[in-house]
Amino acid sequence: MSEPLLRRIAREVLGEELASRLWKRIEILGDIAVIRKPFDVDIDKLKPVAERILEELSYVKSVWAAVTPVSGEHRVRSYVHLAGEPRSETVYREHGCSFLLDITKVYISPVLSYDHARVAKMVRAGERILNMFAGVGGYSIVISRLSRPSLVVSIDINPYAARYARINAELNRVAEINEVIEGDALLVARGFAREFDRVLMPLPELWRDALVASIGIVKRGGWLHPHLFVEARRKRESLDVAKSAVESVAKELGARVEVRGGHVVRSVGPRRYHVTLDVLVIEKASTF
Ligand SMILES: C[S@@+](CC[C@H](N)C(=O)[O-])C[C@H]1O[C@@H](n2cnc3c(N)ncnc32)[C@H](O)[C@@H]1O
Repeated sequence: MSEPLLRRIAREVLGEELASRLWKRIEILGDIAVIRKPFDVDIDKLKPVAERILEELSYVKSVWAAVTPVSGEHRVRSYVHLAGEPRSETVYREHGCSFLLDITKVYISPVLSYDHARVAKMVRAGERILNMFAGVGGYSIVISRLSRPSLVVSIDINPYAARYARINAELNRVAEINEVIEGDALLVARGFAREFDRVLMPLPELWRDALVASIGIVKRGGWLHPHLFVEARRKRESLDVAKSAVESVAKELGARVEVRGGHVVRSVGPRRYHVTLDVLVIEKASTF
């Protein structure tokens, strides 16, 4: 396998020892490149690496260091500008859709790209969809463009994410079927008068609360797509662990569900995985 670009550049600019401490991959978001800063490497050491990235990748206009992992309610990282245009807004593209966003103000990760299209392929014409943790509209807009839902409601508690989700619905010409609500999805979900055919919950940290809220607003015969972090010995076992966890919460709620599929989004540590499931709602308790 050829040496990853970042590792080669770092080796040439900084030497073997420092280069070996850098994360191998550069993340490319539109025309912005992001390098993860290892805690024991000084930010000034990354600047000449960033300059070389600008020289070698002509489509990159700005290079940033991510100095923290995603954290906080808005799931945003902290960044330091390294080289190129001092600009953090860009247009990120996937599946023929364009997303205007500011990397310092909203969550964005290409790691969800595969799942955006995977879920879109399951959507039937006319579905009413709720995206509880929509970010800048990843699932909502890819689904609106690749499938034919009649309504997609996106909620996000981060005002910047809600603003970009609205702009992105316009940018991708799907504003007519997209509604964006800024607020806490767990509270907003209580206020819907009509049920949804499908509810997306792309925030593993709140999966239990989101599942409780979504059972009340999904149709019988509808679909839930929770995201979870699970501990498992092997990647292939992680889906079974998630399935048991979701089935057990559904049972407590008096609902009968069947897990029909899912996807391991990524590994998030030793024996820890981010997974999402496709959950068919067969029966709900009469109280819902
Ligand atoms: C992992 S990101 C969403 C990613 C996005 N769905 C995508 O496909 O790119 C999770 C989002 O949930 C939002 N969030 C966190 N707590 C929330 C809450 N209680 N209600 C609504 N949104 C929330 C964050 O602001 C963040 O934008």
